[in-house]
Amino acid sequence: MNTLLQDAQAAGASVGLTAERVTVHGGRPLKGRIELKGAKNLVTKAMVASLLGETPSELRSVPEISDVRVVKGLLEVHGVKVTSVGDDTLLLDPSAVESAHFEVIDAYAGSSRIPILFCGPLLHRLGEAFIPDLGGCRIGDRPIDFHLEGLRRFGAVVDKQPQGIRLTAPNGLKGAKIELPYPSVGATEQVLLTAVRAEGITELRGAAIEPEIMDLINILQKMGAIISVDTDRVIRIEGVDRLEGYSHTALFDRNEAASWASAALATEGDIFVGGARQAELGTFLNVYRKVGGAFDIHEDGIRFYHPGGKLKPAIIETDVHPGFMTDWQQPLVVALTKAEGVSIVHETVYEQRFGFTDALVDMGAQIQLHRECLGGAECRFGRRNFQHSAVIVGPTKLRAADVVVPDLRGGFSHFIAALSAEGTSTISNIGIIARGYENFIAKLDALGADFVIES
Ligand code: EPZ
Repeated sequence: MNTLLQDAQAAGASVGLTAERVTVHGGRPLKGRIELKGAKNLVTKAMVASLLGETPSELRSVPEISDVRVVKGLLEVHGVKVTSVGDDTLLLDPSAVESAHFEVIDAYAGSSRIPILFCGPLLHRLGEAFIPDLGGCRIGDRPIDFHLEGLRRFGAVVDKQPQGIRLTAPNGLKGAKIELPYPSVGATEQVLLTAVRAEGITELRGAAIEPEIMDLINILQKMGAIISVDTDRVIRIEGVDRLEGYSHTALFDRNEAASWASAALATEGDIFVGGARQAELGTFLNVYRKVGGAFDIHEDGIRFYHPGGKLKPAIIETDVHPGFMTDWQQPLVVALTKAEGVSIVHETVYEQRFGFTDALVDMGAQIQLHRECLGGAECRFGRRNFQHSAVIVGPTKLRAADVVVPDLRGGFSHFIAALSAEGTSTISNIGIIARGYENFIAKLDALGADFVIES
């Protein structure tokens, strides 16, 4: 096996699920300070964007998480030189980009969704791309039909193969008019990363406008792209002949900030989240306050804490930005089990994102899942067989249990549930959490959590 493949297998294995188990002694509030790095859901895309530059890029505030390692590995198998500088900066030099061998790329299959975003940049650079079948959290079907339809509109030829898809662009890539049936984050990124170097103008209707998307647009503009975002979610991109490398400090991780905020509420603690900013968390802060959480905005971060008293139930409907993010609901559901009354969470972004509640029910939570769209308007999943509304009755005292982490955000929820429960729980499969939360165990330790890792 050649060294590239060995490296790929090693990197791929290192991002796999570890057998690590943790014994958690609950009942102690989390108190202290943690520091955020750049957003998982921006940094990984910014790394892919470096492929489009004719010169090297520098990306700062990069978290040490396995999703970043997967993308680093995929860039390296395509000949990009990726160098770590200090503890959170990457230098990405795409000057020697080359096609990778199928079996080497495949070593990264199944561990992330980011590979699909390599299509446009590789088609521009090499005229071809092979993308392995995608991984990512099991929270729904997670199709890529919007991605492939968009690429075809640019003139790409998509050939589905047993282990993935092969793309070519026999006549190059030309600007297109594209309308997304749903404001998909990934599909919007796909179009952005393809349109910036396509010939002519691209008009994208129904685009996602999450802060991570806007930060990616900032990066592309730094590279030389011409991109406008209209109030009606229409993004227009004028293709240019050449893009340069960028120098950028990534936007902070909103999802991690919201996760620790919910942890402070669920454990009756007090956590200062360094690097968190009010502007991108506004909707979360409103809900947090309505549930009974308190927060103080500082220049260098936000202090989240349980001010005492009873928590109040809430009716929450997840939505695209500027709505309540789907990634914020899992950790907050743990706090809602302690609220005095009936809460409802209507998950409208993913059809199967309540799997994590099984473990909470085992711990004594009163949570019922329903197929109906509860608490808000009818969504895409309303008349189908998906249990995408949760009713949470509180307050309940959670009791210790043995749980297996199902996905990234659900795993974080299991941890804070165990920390807020009386007694000793065991949590298995915690490797998934390392996909998106940098130094997760060290942060828990710094916040005074009482746990023991069993290898
Ligand atoms: C990104 O996923 C994030 N992941 C998710 O975060 C986040 O929850 C999601 O956006 C929504 O904000 C990354 O950025 C790596 P989508 P993505 O395309 O791009 C449907 C986390 O925990 N859809 O906006 O995959 C899809 O089924 C993760 O950090 C299609 O139907 O999300 C879903 O119902 C979880 N066809 C909806 O759109 C497509 O081709 C939203 O998906 C693409 C999407």
